[in-house]
Amino acid sequence: MKIFLDTADIEEIRIAARWGILDGVTTNPSLYAKVGGSYEDILRQICRLTSGPVSAEVVAEDVEGMLTEGRAFAKLARNIVVKVPMSEEGLEAIARFSEEGIKTNCTLIFTTNQGLLAAKAGASLISPFVGRLDDINQDGMVVIRELAEVFAIHDIDSEILAASLRHPFHVTQAALAGAHISTLPFKVVQQMVHHPLTDKGIKTFRDDWDKARASAAATSTTAPAGTPADAATGDGGDARGNGAKPAKVVRAAGASASKRRR
Ligand code: E4P
Repeated sequence: MKIFLDTADIEEIRIAARWGILDGVTTNPSLYAKVGGSYEDILRQICRLTSGPVSAEVVAEDVEGMLTEGRAFAKLARNIVVKVPMSEEGLEAIARFSEEGIKTNCTLIFTTNQGLLAAKAGASLISPFVGRLDDINQDGMVVIRELAEVFAIHDIDSEILAASLRHPFHVTQAALAGAHISTLPFKVVQQMVHHPLTDKGIKTFRDDWDKARASAAATSTTAPAGTPADAATGDGGDARGNGAKPAKVVRAAGASASKRRR
């Protein structure tokens, strides 16, 4: 399953790209409103950070308006995908974009039938909104699961893009339900990275390492090799054991280390 970032925040996209997990980006007017500035500039910058699909959403509600906005977006970069809402006008615009070779993402999908129609009209991405269905006490994941089954049965090429995902469990569920793509707020990606036992384990390993290094450093300071006594006896000490301290210290350290391992 591909992972898209659901944001218009350039810094978040830059970080996800550096982590090597970014397959594309979705934006919408609400996400754009959070960052402000020029939507076109933001889209250009995003398209430089990822070679994957970048969804740019139209706000016109009539076919000609959608086409004008979408064509302008498509000229910004070759990886722009025009995001069109599910509506009668939206379907017509998707069909026209498809004839022109412009890729589309049909958004605001809440039923399997809407997804099926969007795919028939020619949308390359179909975006069912899981979280918003959960919000009204319906299982949003059902739409993902049903669309995955329908697309498999009927050999439909459009990809299911699970949207409105709110937490890491949604991501696992979407992957298991057959979504081709999940688009995620950056916060959800961060939540996926972390686990209390992972974070605790990293700290424990670091602490143990630091303790071992400190003890090794203390040992080497108190037990310098090559003292005159070593040279005289050849065995690290004289007949009474004087001067043999360094070897003893090293052996003692080794013994306690092996005890710790057991
Ligand atoms: C992405 O394409 C959608 O616009 C987005 O996931 C919607 O998420 P929301 O329901 O949390 O606003």
